[in-house]
Amino acid sequence: MTDLTPIQQRKEEHLELCREQDVESQLGAGWSTVTLPHCALPDLDLKDVDTRVEFLGHKLAAPFLISSMTGGSPEGESVNLVLARLAESKGLAMGVGSQRILAEKRDSKMFSIRESAPKAVLFANIGAVQLNYSVGVDDCRFIVDRLRAQALVLHLNPLQEAVQLEGDRNFSGLWPKIQQLCKTVGVPVILKETGCGIDPLTAKRGIEAGVAALDVAGLGGTHWGFIEGLRSQKRRELGAIFRDWGIPSKNALEAVVAVARSTKTPVIASGGLRSGLDAARGLFLGADLCGMALPFLRAAAQGERELESFFDTQVEALKIALFCTGSANVAALKKLRGNL
Ligand SMILES: Cc1cc2nc3c(=O)[nH]c(=O)nc-3n(C[C@H](O)[C@H](O)[C@H](O)COP(=O)(O)O)c2cc1C
Repeated sequence: MTDLTPIQQRKEEHLELCREQDVESQLGAGWSTVTLPHCALPDLDLKDVDTRVEFLGHKLAAPFLISSMTGGSPEGESVNLVLARLAESKGLAMGVGSQRILAEKRDSKMFSIRESAPKAVLFANIGAVQLNYSVGVDDCRFIVDRLRAQALVLHLNPLQEAVQLEGDRNFSGLWPKIQQLCKTVGVPVILKETGCGIDPLTAKRGIEAGVAALDVAGLGGTHWGFIEGLRSQKRRELGAIFRDWGIPSKNALEAVVAVARSTKTPVIASGGLRSGLDAARGLFLGADLCGMALPFLRAAAQGERELESFFDTQVEALKIALFCTGSANVAALKKLRGNL
């Protein structure tokens, strides 16, 4: 790893920790507390249950998102390629990890996954805090173009930056910059947390600033405060203290859906989603798309066939949940709770 830049080195450490260690919060996301209404006699044939959805005007075969993870380091590039091939063949959406390194280095070999996924719905990614450091609107256009992305994910991660030894901690004055970005970047902007949850006030301000969608990424899955503690002896104690900091995903989703309803802003459920059944629970609570990060990473580490099999099982689980609630499609499930 000697000729890696500090950012590449950090990315590789993140991947290794996430694959090999217990990196999740100890508090649950709350998905298991959502009981879907069972229908003893669905007036349906399971084979006709339809998982297709539209998100930001793009058709998807199922309401799944491979949440933003990696890229820009040697291992990150190969993980992204495997995930992109899955997104392409199965018709799901995929986010890449932070492209700050691409904005800085402008290296044509980085984030070159579009060639392997010509039709997939892909989301570019950058940390919102970077707008206070070296990243401007032109850099954001560049990273979107590199991927020919359908949207730009702007991630929020104050706890991670606060615990990370080398974190960027000046989050002040970002709203006008976010508003300017939404106006000028040329693709829809999705505002996303990274595992501590979007709170209702941030959701409201995001909508006012012009974001096109919100990804709650709540507590209950991968925990970035804790991971940054694992990366550094000096920050270990702080990371452990904050391991359960955040808004459990189920609570964050309900609050954000309530805020987003009047403007019909789409909402992504994520953070500790671990199955197609959890995804059905998120949709029932009003989500439009369901994101998972760690489960895709770990399945991909087993091999491409294992990744495909993991994904197929989750689509089947979602289909069964739709069937057993008597819902012919995702819209029907959302209607059951008045979420449409
Ligand atoms: C290895 C790894 C790297 C990640 N890097 C990013 C990132 O660069 N940008 C981002 O928005 N989120 C990033 N995340 C956060 C995920 O997108 C997601 O919000 C979070 O892990 C919670 O979902 P999970 O519990 O399904 O893992 C990363 C997650 C993992 C596992």
